[in-house]
Amino acid sequence: MPDPADAIEAALSERFGETVAVDPGLPGLNELARLAAHRVHRRYTGRAVPDDLVRLLCACALSAPSKSDLQQADILIIRDRERLGAIADLMPEMPWLRDAPVFLVFLANGRRLPALAEARQKPFPNDHLDLFFNATVDAAIVLATFLRAAEAVGLGCCPISVIRDHAAAVSAMLALPPKVIPLAGMCVGWPAEPGGISPRLSLGTTLHEERFDDADVLAEVDAYDRRRHAARPYRQQRDPDRFGRAEFYGWSEDKARQYATPARADFGAFVRAKGFCLD
Ligand SMILES: Cc1cc2nc3c(=O)[nH]c(=O)nc-3n(C[C@H](O)[C@H](O)[C@H](O)COP(=O)(O)O)c2cc1C
Repeated sequence: MPDPADAIEAALSERFGETVAVDPGLPGLNELARLAAHRVHRRYTGRAVPDDLVRLLCACALSAPSKSDLQQADILIIRDRERLGAIADLMPEMPWLRDAPVFLVFLANGRRLPALAEARQKPFPNDHLDLFFNATVDAAIVLATFLRAAEAVGLGCCPISVIRDHAAAVSAMLALPPKVIPLAGMCVGWPAEPGGISPRLSLGTTLHEERFDDADVLAEVDAYDRRRHAARPYRQQRDPDRFGRAEFYGWSEDKARQYATPARADFGAFVRAKGFCLD
């Protein structure tokens, strides 16, 4: 086992391309080492993930903080291979979904609160964007906490927001009622390979001191593109028929190409049809 302070420094250096100081006397370094070394896993061994373990991890995830204690995040567990297969059929570009021993769906639940208002015979003048936003944020925090809990016991996970490309179909398959929407799915299994650290934008780009400053963003992104390309070059270029073949293909080119095609333009309509008010 490498010293946790050294492991954190090595992981963060790979992640951000710079040295972040670590005091070796800090408590909790093993947990920080796990966070620093995070990676998603998209390939799993055939080993089953026990039901009790999934329940334990969900309970830990649902222990996350919740805006105003409103508790608007739910988790839906899918183990049934047929049901998972039907969801996987919708997104053949992500075969890891079908192979996941367990698949979870993290839900933003804006339904309980108005139901409580009705049961307690109170007005509910807060049926606006904030209800949707709070429920979504709670669900995102629970998702991230689940990931952390799962990684602590050695499981590998991959969040799946592509289920929102098929939000209405997934919602119907899972019997999601009005004001309950899927935030993202999550493949969970025992990793089949170690995986690797995905470099992030420099701390100079995403960490601000005292006041927001993105004056150097393009230069920072350019440097990131090159650092990332050296460590993890893209294997394929996106949409070469439309955009041609770039001599240097970095992260910013990939993300610009990705967002040059409309995606989920109907998601707002889905959320409204589910009964959320976005005004
Ligand atoms: C909310 C969310 C949704 C994601 N959706 C998908 C997805 O649909 N398919 C997928 O393969 N990966 C998905 N990912 C995984 C990201 O691609 C991954 O986190 C990113 O490439 C960085 O890699 P790393 O987590 O290993 O550092 C998602 C991640 C998050 C946080």
